Amino acid sequence: MESIAKKNNLTWFNGHISRKAREQLHGHKGAVIWFTGLSASGKSTIAHLVEKQLQRQGCSTYVFDGDNVRHGLCSDLTFSSENRAENIRRIGEMVKLFVDAGIIALTAFISPYRKDRQRLRSLFSDGQFLEIHVDCPPEVCATRDQKGIYAKAKAGVIKEFTGISAPYEPPENPDLVIPSYDQDAREAAQGVVRLIKQREII
Ligand code: ADX
Repeated sequence: MESIAKKNNLTWFNGHISRKAREQLHGHKGAVIWFTGLSASGKSTIAHLVEKQLQRQGCSTYVFDGDNVRHGLCSDLTFSSENRAENIRRIGEMVKLFVDAGIIALTAFISPYRKDRQRLRSLFSDGQFLEIHVDCPPEVCATRDQKGIYAKAKAGVIKEFTGISAPYEPPENPDLVIPSYDQDAREAAQGVVRLIKQREII
């Protein structure tokens, strides 16, 4: 990293407003609540419900969603393991800036590879990054899938589909596991808000 900066004559400029000052303004800490799990496991639904509860309590939040980010910032990327790593790397760097701005970033990306998520965690200080596994077997996800992508993946129309023809590596030490195959999304969201409070983010 240092050598790239040196090579390109780049210097990091610290602004006049510290993260601490921004956090005081928001009334809470900046953090990332990283949801990982299969497509249609409920990541996005739960993240948006958590955001609603946090907003009601006056928090500054933003939800980053896989499908949305792939419309723009990551529209050049495929679903190969290399491109997924790059997808997660870019998102990690982007949400780091949001954390610096004192925002609670909620993310909903499959992020199937353990090493990509470990790299992510290393970008943040202790307590800034919470990893939440939205656990749901592919058979159940397929029954909830409104986009019809599981049927296409099973038919081989979509290649390298996570949970069908590409791997999903569950986190070994997540901060929370949500068994979304039999837990109501609203109840799950309440559990996440409880965790955010326990960790003294808000
Ligand atoms: S990730 O693996 O790189 O983290 P991301 O969360 O950005 O994936 O995008 C997942 C979304 O892309 C899914 O919800 C699904 O709609 C769509 N998608 C298209 N092709 C695939 C594929 N081969 N595997 C998984 N998701 C896919």
